[in-house]
Amino acid sequence: MAFQDHFSYYGPTRLIMGRGTIGNIPQIVNEQQVKKAQIVTDRGLVQAGVVARVTEILDKSHIAYSIYDGVEPNPPIRNVEACAAQYQSENCDFLLAIGGGSSMDVAKTSGVLVNHGGKITDYFIGEKPVPGPIPFLLCVPTTYGTASEVTPFAVITDDNHFKGTVAGPHVIPDVGILDADMAVALPLPIAAATGMDALTHAIESYVSLMSNPISEGMALHAIRLISQNLRQAAYSDHNHEATQNMLIGSTMAGFAFSQTRLGNVHAMSHPVGGHYDVPHGIANSILLTRIMAYNRYACPEKFATIAIALGEDVDGLSAVDASVLAVEAVQNLSDDVGIPATLGEAGAKAEGIHVMAEDAMKSGNIQVNPRKTTIKDVIALYEESM
Ligand SMILES: [Fe+2]
Repeated sequence: MAFQDHFSYYGPTRLIMGRGTIGNIPQIVNEQQVKKAQIVTDRGLVQAGVVARVTEILDKSHIAYSIYDGVEPNPPIRNVEACAAQYQSENCDFLLAIGGGSSMDVAKTSGVLVNHGGKITDYFIGEKPVPGPIPFLLCVPTTYGTASEVTPFAVITDDNHFKGTVAGPHVIPDVGILDADMAVALPLPIAAATGMDALTHAIESYVSLMSNPISEGMALHAIRLISQNLRQAAYSDHNHEATQNMLIGSTMAGFAFSQTRLGNVHAMSHPVGGHYDVPHGIANSILLTRIMAYNRYACPEKFATIAIALGEDVDGLSAVDASVLAVEAVQNLSDDVGIPATLGEAGAKAEGIHVMAEDAMKSGNIQVNPRKTTIKDVIALYEESM
């Protein structure tokens, strides 16, 4: 098992949590002395009246804003460029993301273009780093998945269907508002997918070769919160307590994986989303149990601890035997919230496995996966999941 005897921890996002906390936005804006928001969101949230809950508060406080509502799932480069152009033509001076990971990631990356110019692909990992701050960024997540409200990552799909990551401390949001009223009553498929994404973050971070005592504590409690609350949040339109716990669990997982990166699940799920538009959380959830089973011999004690966090009784079992219970508990949760059983059922095609495997191997997440992994392993895991 890896042990990080030297590590740092950095999580600067100010979090405000609880029902009705979007009411704090005017005070935050005034403290920051910014004048005009670029709201970054998607059309569905505008049509559902979710964005209006925030704009009513801005209107009452005479805070100006412009709305970019063109964010698409697995957001492409054109979203980032259009959002940045609108920010500039509307003379905005801060970003207010309302939505899931896609909206927050478009806000982060359009902020990079606004302040530093160029193309967003110039800033993908492996190219140049983001050289300095982006505009003030406040995030209001409406799902409990990506934790983009606290992470130094943004994922954008390029014209070759490759999901590139823009990363670094400058894209960490300044403020996150976790308001259960904004995320309660999600459609079941979105609740299921985003909740399983958050669980994947927590589990991958906990077993990452870069984990450390602080990230492990965050990840384990996230596993507890998510496994104890996802079913209730997903199947109820009014369970604010479960929804708030999911938002907190997702954010804690985000703090954890911000320090540790992720693992094979994310390395392999991004190509599935990039090539076949399978929702991120669905692809993760399908891959997660297969990859937990693949990884468990590399660190059985950690998987036994995950089993306990998932509520399993491991009394009298060896770590190797207990680790099986972790895989089974995650599969039960995934089944209970209606995740498809295979990548094929979710829309991916077996003929894409080799291209996806090549993309997966470009991910830095493979290097921190607890069991060493070759492209042959990745191909076999895709075949098993198809
Ligand atoms: Fe994710």
